[in-house]
Amino acid sequence: MRSTIGIDSIGVYVPRLYLDLTDEWARTRAPVLAGGDVQKLVGKVTDGVGVRRMAVVDAHQDCATLAAMAAKRAIDAAGIDPREIDYLAVGTETTVDQSKSTAAYVLGMLEQHYGVRMADVGAPQFQFACIGATYALEAAVSRIRAGDHAKPYALVIASDVSKYPLATAGEYTQGAGAVALLVSENPRLLALEPGLSATITRDERDFFRPNWSATAVVDGKYSIDVYLDTLEAAFHAYAERVEGALGIVASRLYGAIDHFLFHVPFPRMAEYAAARVFLGQWLADAAPGGARSRLLAEVPLAGAGAGAGAGAGAGGSPAGEALQRKEVERLLAKSPIFREAFARKVNPSLALSRDIGNMYSGSLYLALASLFEQAQRPAGAPPAGAFSAGPPLAGQRIAFGSYGSGASAKVFSGSVMADYAKVTSHLRLTEELRPQAEGGTRVPLSMADYERLHALTDAELDYDGAAIDSVMQKLRDGVALAPSEVAAVAALRSAVQSPKWRVRPRGASILAPRAEFALERIGTTSSAERTDTGYRYYAWVP
Ligand code: CAA
Repeated sequence: MRSTIGIDSIGVYVPRLYLDLTDEWARTRAPVLAGGDVQKLVGKVTDGVGVRRMAVVDAHQDCATLAAMAAKRAIDAAGIDPREIDYLAVGTETTVDQSKSTAAYVLGMLEQHYGVRMADVGAPQFQFACIGATYALEAAVSRIRAGDHAKPYALVIASDVSKYPLATAGEYTQGAGAVALLVSENPRLLALEPGLSATITRDERDFFRPNWSATAVVDGKYSIDVYLDTLEAAFHAYAERVEGALGIVASRLYGAIDHFLFHVPFPRMAEYAAARVFLGQWLADAAPGGARSRLLAEVPLAGAGAGAGAGAGAGGSPAGEALQRKEVERLLAKSPIFREAFARKVNPSLALSRDIGNMYSGSLYLALASLFEQAQRPAGAPPAGAFSAGPPLAGQRIAFGSYGSGASAKVFSGSVMADYAKVTSHLRLTEELRPQAEGGTRVPLSMADYERLHALTDAELDYDGAAIDSVMQKLRDGVALAPSEVAAVAALRSAVQSPKWRVRPRGASILAPRAEFALERIGTTSSAERTDTGYRYYAWVP
């Protein structure tokens, strides 16, 4: 008989700095993004996209420090000795090194902080855009299931710093943070259902980050289509596996799942995903009194076949079918049947991302933490933001829809264990996300500070920037160059043609690090005795 394997404890870390998207940012960007109409931009970002604040990393923070913070929280919440872990995997798409595993840096930080040796721990990094941590989780579970573990726990961490070019449609979906999951046999939080996970992968160009770029290249609207198509196909494959393994037929699947958690690049995306997934499931439920009859009464166009999977039945060109399907999903999103289902089965998982933005690989697992936290709110407590509290969760089935651009979708499920409330009682994310002005600890950024942090890079071209800047200004102004300045142009040309890089000082933090892991410096030594150029020195700052 298979043993129960799953998530035993969860830790979440979100940096304290944030940018308010309804204030100075909106006034600054409105001329570029909304023809000067500030209210229109605020409406689009808060209602159309669903975010109002984005988490931003400080100068001493990066994907590795966020990961170590989340790991510490998961370990402390479980009350275990870190030496009980023998596998530490990080899923990230914003790695700190082109070769070394971020997990090795995290391991070093944990060893330093807890004063232990963890030399016998496997520490790989998984990369596949936002789905990397899900592949890491799958590997950790398989390893335990195969009996390859020597110690009870594996630690899986999803950590990212999302960055797009400034003043683009991607900018307002940025965010940062990490989620750590302690994985074990007989978990106290969530038992993952074996043999049901379904994966779809397509070679796609919807979103990626070439080696030379610090920000993502994204075809925004197309990325939404690829997300929905691959997720739908993965749900379809999951439904077949559920029917084969558990005998739950497709028409009964919706009723058998209590909560649908999706990858959340921004909260409205979870709504698009739910519309796509629910539509297929409701159309399949044709029994008398089943969801199909109510659906068709409220959204008659759904009966034209547009939702029956990959445009089936619309009868026109593929583009026409896609348009019809979009229209059906748009109408569905407004219908009472959908709004009720969404409020019950999806909304509680979205309470936090509105104030964080896109955590990339962590966003699906932030949704899980959000669901747990919402379930702990006492009955009658005011909802967080626009979202309502969920019901007690023990025994309920959660379906996870993971997505990574480029592109891969994976659907899997788990059931909540009886001890979940005790194991998640340490979560205080709603409180942590409250700004200082509202009695919390989060600190707002000015545009100037935000743009300075956004521009931070680890290295810069090795030439005299100030001299080149003044030469460029003279060229722009049509002012003659001195002979020494002509030499500066030649230096710039050779620097660009055969670039040499030097480590760039990161500058002061906005908030001095306190009770956290921090990037202290990046090595610059290159000698016969010792070489560490580019190596990152982290430390726990008490
Ligand atoms: N008030 C209220 N709503 C408004 C509004 C206003 N004043 N103005 C516009 N809206 C609505 C629009 O109607 C639209 O809603 P519907 O879809 O319901 O019609 C919504 O706001 C968004 O507006 P746009 O369609 O004009 O889209 P945009 O230009 O703001 O771009 C985006 C949105 C494509 C997501 C862009 O932010 C982007 O490129 N983001 C990065 C890529 C991304 O997140 N892709 C998601 C799928 S890929 C993935 O999930 C992996 C990942 O993590 C990156």
